[in-house]
Amino acid sequence: NRGCMGNKATAVARLSPGMKPKCHIKARCEIYPRSQIKRFPVPDDKVPWTTKFPEYKPVDYTSESILKRPVYADPDIRTEKVDPPLSFNGCDGKINRVSHMGDYELVDGIPRNPQGRTGLMGRGTLGRWGPNHAADPIVTRWKVDESGKIIKGPDGKPVLQFVSVQRRDNHQWALPGGMVDAGEVVTATVRREFGEEAMNSIQMSSEEKKRMEKELDELFATGREIFRGYVDDPRNTDNSWMETVAFNFHDEDGSCLGKINLCAGDDAMNVRWTDLSGTLDLYASHVDFLEEVAKFHNASW
Ligand code: BGC
Repeated sequence: NRGCMGNKATAVARLSPGMKPKCHIKARCEIYPRSQIKRFPVPDDKVPWTTKFPEYKPVDYTSESILKRPVYADPDIRTEKVDPPLSFNGCDGKINRVSHMGDYELVDGIPRNPQGRTGLMGRGTLGRWGPNHAADPIVTRWKVDESGKIIKGPDGKPVLQFVSVQRRDNHQWALPGGMVDAGEVVTATVRREFGEEAMNSIQMSSEEKKRMEKELDELFATGREIFRGYVDDPRNTDNSWMETVAFNFHDEDGSCLGKINLCAGDDAMNVRWTDLSGTLDLYASHVDFLEEVAKFHNASW
């Protein structure tokens, strides 16, 4: 499984200098998403496991829907005997349990969040113990006026636009990414998710689908990896967390994307081109990825 092998080789997130991983800002949100569960408060200095915190009593929460074991969810290894055991830090059949951040620790056989405490144990709404892998497409073009001239931002630099979707689960704007299916390579995930969420390929006739596939092939043939690693996601827990690989697909002259119709589908309720800028407020740590993209293209931020 190439997806698994690829991970271990890149042990640490590729961050450019100055791009620091966010230390559990969203992953310590007071109320856990889609629940009324309150996380145990963790002060900033108590996030690292290396800092003693004897009073720490994280709330134990795994949502009902995860306990019902949808296809993507693991068994409850704390209450059931699982034989053979899940192979953490490795590939488990088609399931990739390797972290982009290197080997994670197991405490009493349960994975421990490599970025520290979150105030909640169990899996929350995440299916996997340990890393839950996602992939994000960052599709960009230059912003132009009616005459086709590139528009400049307040800092005098050209403005980039990216395809954003509004998530159905929390109504926040985000990248049109999604979970990597078992056995799927991440490059296939970004392409599939973009099709499902930003072009509504699920609703297309087979004819339309074929045409769209061709256009997407052109666009997705040239991707640049922007980020690979841990994500500060509000669903993270002490035992389950999100990781992603984000790719930038840039249409320099707007010729490919000009033909593509954006249409929200699947987990997305809206889709639009959004200007890149430092004032963006997006889901999880997506704004950090966009800052990287702006730097790379020397665009306004
Ligand atoms: C989203 C991705 C995101 C990841 C981590 C997934 O549910 O679809 O866009 O990067 O979670 O937050």
